[in-house]
Amino acid sequence: MSQSMPHGVYVAVGGGSSIDTAKAASLYATYPAELLDYVNPPVGKGLPDPGELKPLVAVPTTAGTGSETTGVAIFDYTPLHAKTGIAHRALRPVLGVVDPNNTRGVPPLVAACSGLDVLSHAVESLTALPFCQRPAPDSPAQRPAYQGSNPISDIWARRAIEMVARYLVRSTTDPSDDEARGAMLLAATFAGIGFGNAGVHLPHGMSYPVSGMVRNFIPAGYRTRRPLIPHGMSVILNSPAVFRFTAQADPRRHLEAARLMGADVAEARTEDAGEILAGAIIALMRQTGMPNGLKAVGYAPEDSDALVARTIVQHRVTKL
Ligand SMILES: NC(=O)c1ccc[n+]([C@@H]2O[C@H](COP(=O)([O-])OP(=O)(O)OC[C@H]3O[C@@H](n4cnc5c(N)ncnc54)[C@H](O)[C@@H]3O)[C@@H](O)[C@H]2O)c1
Repeated sequence: MSQSMPHGVYVAVGGGSSIDTAKAASLYATYPAELLDYVNPPVGKGLPDPGELKPLVAVPTTAGTGSETTGVAIFDYTPLHAKTGIAHRALRPVLGVVDPNNTRGVPPLVAACSGLDVLSHAVESLTALPFCQRPAPDSPAQRPAYQGSNPISDIWARRAIEMVARYLVRSTTDPSDDEARGAMLLAATFAGIGFGNAGVHLPHGMSYPVSGMVRNFIPAGYRTRRPLIPHGMSVILNSPAVFRFTAQADPRRHLEAARLMGADVAEARTEDAGEILAGAIIALMRQTGMPNGLKAVGYAPEDSDALVARTIVQHRVTKL
């Protein structure tokens, strides 16, 4: 914007990448600072909310990140070869224009990756550490954007899981299926309201280096010449293993997520909760053409130390 044309509002039209870029542009243009000043610790200084921002109107064109509902902006921090983010309530858009007409041209793999991101948002916020088990901050101003699972976020997460299980495959195989596309966009917004308060945990924390350390994977249907592991793909590749591991902390919630996805859990043993949820997720991954594990996107066992090191610093999500 030129100085002679002062602007009163930001409008972001696009997927999560575009909406998050607008959030960061608004923050740094209004309260100039070094890049890492507002970035979550320990990568950045995590300075508290500097104040109000100009209104941001978000128009999502993928279904989707739910970024139109959250106070979070995620970006690739190239020196670390991992994504990281800024979390401030002031970043939250004042309005989201959630219109399925805007997702009509989404290529099948983009729809699949962004839809599996929605699923993981919802399952992660349902299985995140409960808000009452987090250490309380010294003052409400220091309360993190991600607060842990709570009775209100649970409602949004549960409904989003059911909707993804019902509509994701249809929305990726038939772009003319308006009902499925509309439901997926709404599910993305529902999951966004849920995880924007509860937070996400290990599948997202582990996804940031998977995307950031990409070598030569180029996904079909993405307009890119440079290697890229799409966000939703990097998340969902970790999810089955994570939920097998986290289920022991709260088998009931993991079984509930599997039931909401359509699994028969009537006779399920609590010790099988993780395997049952992982199985339901893997079935959806197969139906939507996801690669079979990290090896299929270019990683080898020797990469695990580097992947772990870049996950451990994602305190915003690993603490949940
Ligand atoms: N802020 C948040 O709360 C939040 C939550 C989850 C993810 N994210 C971030 O969002 C980013 C991912 O966003 P995304 O999954 O929406 O993908 P994206 O914005 O990166 O878009 C993916 C691809 O789809 C194309 N595209 C987008 N809309 C289209 C349409 N309607 N028709 C045709 N092509 C279209 C884009 O040009 C791009 O090539 C990641 O950086 C992720 O970390 C942010």
